[in-house]
Amino acid sequence: MASRVLLILCLSSLFFFLAASTKEYPGQAKIFDVRNYGAHGDGRRDNAFAFTKAWNEACQWSNGRSTVYIPPGIFYLRQVTFTGPCKNPITFIIRGTLLAPRNPYAIKQDEWILFKYVDNLTVTGGGLLDGQGSYSWPLNDCNKNTNCRTLAMNIGFAFVKSSRINGLRSINSKMGHFNLFSVEDFNITGVTITAPGDSPNTDGIKIGKSSHMHIFNVTIGTGDDCIAILDGTSNLDISDVRYI
Ligand SMILES: *[C@@H]1O[C@H](CO)[C@@H](O)[C@H](O)[C@H]1NC(C)=O
Ligand SMILES: *[C@@H]1O[C@H](CO)[C@@H](O)[C@H](O)[C@H]1NC(C)=O
Ligand SMILES: *[C@@H]1O[C@H](CO)[C@@H](O)[C@H](O)[C@H]1NC(C)=O
Repeated sequence: MASRVLLILCLSSLFFFLAASTKEYPGQAKIFDVRNYGAHGDGRRDNAFAFTKAWNEACQWSNGRSTVYIPPGIFYLRQVTFTGPCKNPITFIIRGTLLAPRNPYAIKQDEWILFKYVDNLTVTGGGLLDGQGSYSWPLNDCNKNTNCRTLAMNIGFAFVKSSRINGLRSINSKMGHFNLFSVEDFNITGVTITAPGDSPNTDGIKIGKSSHMHIFNVTIGTGDDCIAILDGTSNLDISDVRYI
């Protein structure tokens, strides 16, 4: 009798041991730390290649949820596009600072950081996007030149569904900060967006052709619109916006 009880105990602790020693099991997100893909938080070397590699592996991970993790540190990034569709829900955690190039013409796309064609994306972590816009604001002549060259916005989401940004800071974009285009069922919460009051065209959140969005508990103070709503947008719920 006693030995049978002991045997059961042993078996159950064996199962426990096996479960604990298995790195990936269903329900648990697999973490893709950008450092394992060659990222350097030294504020100097470009991390676009490392971030894209980590994203691509996380996005194609087929055994469950995946998480891309950017640790504390200053990660210089010239420009990057994270493209889906992904196999599963994906979380993008930014703990550190992402630093844009000072030269605005180094960025050859409309947003410095762009997510497109992704569903079930969560961007979080409380990290900082630093657009280093002070170097390009003097070049902005859009108030007198209708053909002015547009500069990159800090971060964009295009054709993204059932997703959320929760906890992120964005400062000193070259032009606007957040650009949402053709997103659906998308929430923005716990976000802080700032740029000096006299910085040109530094809109906070720009929304076009999007639907079913909730924006709440956000803090915005920029040189232009806090939230700009463009055509084709419906079912937008905005509350608890603090202006600083
Ligand atoms: C996203 O979530 C929805 C609803 O839970 C699910 O039907 C869909 O398959 C998910 N897509 C991805 C890519 O995870
Ligand atoms: C957005 O927020 C609303 C209200 O809290 C919630 O019902 C909905 O599930 C959220 N959607 C996403 C995609 O997080
Ligand atoms: C609102 O957002 C801030 C971050 O800006 C966060 O610290 C706080 O917990 C949030 N409050 C609620 C009620 O979610």
